[in-house]
Amino acid sequence: MLKGKNIVVGVTGGVAAYKACDIVSRFKKLGAEVNVIMTKAATEFVQPQAFQALSQNPVTVDMFETPRYWDIEHISLAQKADVLLVAPATANIIGKVANGIADDMLSTTIMASTAKVVFAPAMNTKMYENVIVQDNIKKLKNLGYHFIQPASGRLACGDIGVGKLCEPEKIVEAVIEIALPVQDLAGKNLLVTAGPTVETIDPVRFISNRSSGKMGYAIAEAAQARGAIVTLVSGPTNIKPPAGVDFMPTTSAINMYDTVMEHFNKQDIIIKAAAVGDYRPENPADMKIKKQEGNLTINLVRNPDILLELGKRKTNQILVGFAAETNNLLEYATGKLNKKNADLIVANDVTENGAGFGSDTNIVYLLDRQGEQRKIEMASKLEIANKILDKVIELSK
Ligand code: CTP
Repeated sequence: MLKGKNIVVGVTGGVAAYKACDIVSRFKKLGAEVNVIMTKAATEFVQPQAFQALSQNPVTVDMFETPRYWDIEHISLAQKADVLLVAPATANIIGKVANGIADDMLSTTIMASTAKVVFAPAMNTKMYENVIVQDNIKKLKNLGYHFIQPASGRLACGDIGVGKLCEPEKIVEAVIEIALPVQDLAGKNLLVTAGPTVETIDPVRFISNRSSGKMGYAIAEAAQARGAIVTLVSGPTNIKPPAGVDFMPTTSAINMYDTVMEHFNKQDIIIKAAAVGDYRPENPADMKIKKQEGNLTINLVRNPDILLELGKRKTNQILVGFAAETNNLLEYATGKLNKKNADLIVANDVTENGAGFGSDTNIVYLLDRQGEQRKIEMASKLEIANKILDKVIELSK
């Protein structure tokens, strides 16, 4: 299954370092070529020989030693890797990468690589919850690095809480899903919209919404990893677009409408994850509006409904809409499925814990025209994105 794939496993100094042996062995059994890089601290927990035997490759420990096992091409590990997994990942390696520090072989390789990087953190609960660590994780996530959520349980230090390395079996599954997925969308043109729209009131003020863009960007990333030719049309967000997608930044609903319509014809799949504002100020002011006595009234006029228009124009495209609701979820979502002539509606209750705007996770229902209402339990937005794409493929058969 992983034949021809190059996986670099970075092992850092935590009690869970021994579990990386199991991870390496699982990747090998699946046919991957595995190279292990250990930090000095990791060698306090596991001998490099163990990883050498399991990976059947020399193990790299410190870049400032005379090259013994690895040759002059040591940077080539960074280049040939299809994916870099750091497991267990300490607060130290996460902090280094988040701050651009490259002072040993592992941090240098991560920094020199354009491959996907997946961190599987493991550390004491208090440390994991430390705002500095959490800020570093957030920063790296926004830059496109991946994280596998640690599990809860009894930690090596005796504390009970979150911070245990996720099970090796699950780590291997997650890495495959994130970085080495099947190419079942190869050659398909997929357009996804993401983020909020922004409507100008005057040169310094605007109307927008709370969409972070995370769901749409996760769809773009998952589709691209599965071989699709992805166009990402996005309102302003703080997220870096996935490498390799055709990125089209937009602002207002009309701007997004025009961009989508311009690229609509050549698409096989269109996924409308953007939170499009339904109204815009009728007459945006050219100059800053100065305050005056009394109240201010701004007249709002309706924006075009992009999804509704696509529903009218579609020929053989698969059209997916979203329904973000606070009540009567399935009823409203079914209404949108029919009214907008979509093939699939992804419905979520934005008031639920673990779902909605800004969250890293989501809980959704997939509603299709055959009347199926499939619930996807709480999962990361990337996992949800893959479930949506699985359903799209099912519908296109
Ligand atoms: N949508 C769109 N253009 C709009 C409004 C919404 O393309 N002007 C799309 C969204 O991208 C989403 C779907 O329609 O895929 C549902 O959006 P939502 O705002 O939840 O629904 P509305 O049709 O605006 O209905 P309501 O405001 O009554 O909930």
